[in-house]
Amino acid sequence: MENFTFKNDTKIIFGKGTENSAGKEILKYGKKILLHYGGGSIKKSGLYDKVMKSLKESSITVFELGGVKPNPAVSLIRQGIGICRENKIDFILAVGGGSVIDSSKAISMGVNYSGDVWDFFEGKAKLESSLPVGVILTIPAAGSESSVVTVITNEDGLIKRGFHSSMLLPKFAILNPELTFTLPVFQIACGAADILAHTFERYFTQTKNVDLTDRLCEGLMKTVIENSKIAVKDLGNYDAMAELMWASTIAHNGILGTGRVEDWASHKLGHELSALYGITHGASISVMFPAWMKYVYKYNIDRFAQFAARVFNIDYGFGDEQWLALRGITELENYFKELGLPTTLTELKVPFDKLELMAEKAVVKGPIGNFVKINKEDAFKIYELAK
Ligand code: NZQ
Ligand code: ZN
Repeated sequence: MENFTFKNDTKIIFGKGTENSAGKEILKYGKKILLHYGGGSIKKSGLYDKVMKSLKESSITVFELGGVKPNPAVSLIRQGIGICRENKIDFILAVGGGSVIDSSKAISMGVNYSGDVWDFFEGKAKLESSLPVGVILTIPAAGSESSVVTVITNEDGLIKRGFHSSMLLPKFAILNPELTFTLPVFQIACGAADILAHTFERYFTQTKNVDLTDRLCEGLMKTVIENSKIAVKDLGNYDAMAELMWASTIAHNGILGTGRVEDWASHKLGHELSALYGITHGASISVMFPAWMKYVYKYNIDRFAQFAARVFNIDYGFGDEQWLALRGITELENYFKELGLPTTLTELKVPFDKLELMAEKAVVKGPIGNFVKINKEDAFKIYELAK
């Protein structure tokens, strides 16, 4: 096990009706807020009205900015920064999924910075202060509700980049599984793929003697696989959505990565698909993870054999680890297919003429990943495997 420091300050408020406590929670940080949301699902579901009521009861002054699109754009973030500066906003409330939360985090970074917010994503600026952010989550997926990360897209150049800082940890995250009942099946499936992906990025490591976090990861993976199969068939199943919602947070709040070297190559390969073609994050994951696995499994067959045996309950076939490792990857593909997710670039309708460009963009800051260092040539081969 590697040395580590673990701290996650996000207060989790879980369960039915918890969105009604938003106003009270915010009062600990400010009285003038930006309410940030997406393309309208919160208005259709009635959540917007409930949140406004809670804010009004706490006498909070509300400025609004809706319209966050999946793979959130820096142009709307710049607009949000302007609203916050003009109105001396002291708190941002994100109501939605990863895109809304990440957009809120990026706005919070830009308010007190004199340059352009994209500078942070290009490594040209150091984050010294940010506004506090709170979350009401509507989709279990990205884990941004208690992560140190924001991932945004610059339409100019079609670049999707992340930025990390402990300052970005939301102050609180309200998780009411009932708020997910209006989700389309495809989004539930994409969310499950992303939760698994955040676990894979930590599980597939070369670090030895990490039994506890291995078992935590495996338990989480089994829970997500079982409950996502229920959730996509039985819409509005509270128990299944509750498991997914808590898993979304646990998978990405840092605890599963303690003591181990994480990977993150598959996410970066997926981000290129989203940047160029607007592919939904979870669908980029269900295509790129199996391809990455097929490319790298030979660098630690034991780990992939363990994954197959413990997560998919496959028996060791006469001690043939290569067979077992490959069976695990096939089982994962079958699971994604059962959820209705794509597993190939062809299904995503991604043309093959820009695979080299995507490979180049994915490694623009140097080789990616740690399980195996992936350079441009490797990235290209992984995209080829995903065809
Ligand atoms: O915009 P609205 O109308 O709200 O619709 C959204 C959106 O179209 C809809 N939706 C969300 N909750 C709903 C709902 N529709 C009906 N009922 C509800 N209850 O779902 C669609 C997708 O929303 P989005 O926020 O994009 O989903 P997700 O949570 O998967 O977030 C994806 C983004 O998070 C980033 C991804 O790259 C992507 O940009 N990630 C952020 C991470 C982080 N900050 O830690 C880590 C992840 O790896 C990921 O990269
Ligand atoms: Zn992800």
